[in-house]
Amino acid sequence: MSYSLLRPLLFSLNPETAHRVTLYAIENAHRFKLLQGNPIDCKHRNIMGIDFPNPVGLAAGMDKNGEYINALAAFGFGFIEIGTVTPRPQPGNLKPRLFRIPQAKAIINHLGFNNDGVDKLVENVKYANYQGILGINIGKNFDTPVEKAADDYLMCLRKVYLHASYIVVNISSPNTPNLRQLQDTEELNHLLGTLKLEQNKLTDECGKYTPLVVKIAPDLETKQIISIATLLMKHKIDGVIATNSTFSRIGVEHLPHSSKTGGLSGAPLTKHSTTVVHLLHGVLQGAVPIIGVGGIMCATDTKEKMDAGASLVQIYTGLIYRGPELVCETVQAICK
Ligand SMILES: Cc1cc2nc3c(=O)[nH]c(=O)nc-3n(C[C@H](O)[C@H](O)[C@H](O)COP(=O)(O)O)c2cc1C
Repeated sequence: MSYSLLRPLLFSLNPETAHRVTLYAIENAHRFKLLQGNPIDCKHRNIMGIDFPNPVGLAAGMDKNGEYINALAAFGFGFIEIGTVTPRPQPGNLKPRLFRIPQAKAIINHLGFNNDGVDKLVENVKYANYQGILGINIGKNFDTPVEKAADDYLMCLRKVYLHASYIVVNISSPNTPNLRQLQDTEELNHLLGTLKLEQNKLTDECGKYTPLVVKIAPDLETKQIISIATLLMKHKIDGVIATNSTFSRIGVEHLPHSSKTGGLSGAPLTKHSTTVVHLLHGVLQGAVPIIGVGGIMCATDTKEKMDAGASLVQIYTGLIYRGPELVCETVQAICK
């Protein structure tokens, strides 16, 4: 059934219920073989030493616990990112914490890393036995002081290391107090140094190199972007994801829900995150590959992210407004 027919029904539910219902439905459709598919095979590219069957991935946050990996992969993504996961399970912020702004094709989320904890995620990943490319996005618990954040990232890094194709250090969620402080030069220098050391140790112990990727916010000044890019090169970080959702409300100020607390994603973020990709590329010049994410709602948005310097892209809010057809549309646009 076409997603445009299902969407009014889903949008009549509250957004968190719609999210659960949709994932439950696709999981069952996959289990009963009504939904089947492999990564669309097109323009393979080797990024971070990994062979991506196509450059369009699922962004973090849709499958926080890795419960729906095989069903989501059936939409044709070149790679799937799960998480953000934290060391201990946590319920996230109080509900309601997810809002649609349909007039602007946008979402505001204030979820706050609701997840079942890293042990449960690893169990789910093992059970899925997924053979495709899997990114695991890690964070810190809401009650871990920011000065101790490295301990949380280290714990998650060790537990997911063997199970991930790449690991994302999320320091850019707008919904965990003070998390974005970790993007400041001194804190980031310390965090990346610590994680890189552990990555080297784990590589020796496990006989496997798992690339480390850092996910950044769109709400950064140019000089902060330059400073982050410089640190990524200094610490030989394998990749960078730009961007997470934004605090900005430019373009939606007049619309219902625009004053809700949280990160804004979708169409109002498109240009903003592409600018961050462009600025990063200006400094990195290919030394660290960029995964572009933020407001990809159509094929043109994808091409603009790639033209700005992204090697891969990811989508989330576009799926809510356009459905899984968006995956095929964006892959085809790149493959032309
Ligand atoms: C409901 C929701 C939950 C999200 N949760 C996470 C998360 O747990 N970790 C993360 O790194 N990004 C998370 N994100 C951010 C997305 O991965 C993405 O970076 C951002 O939404 C911009 O892309 P988009 O405009 O295509 O949605 C979330 C986004 C949404 C809408």
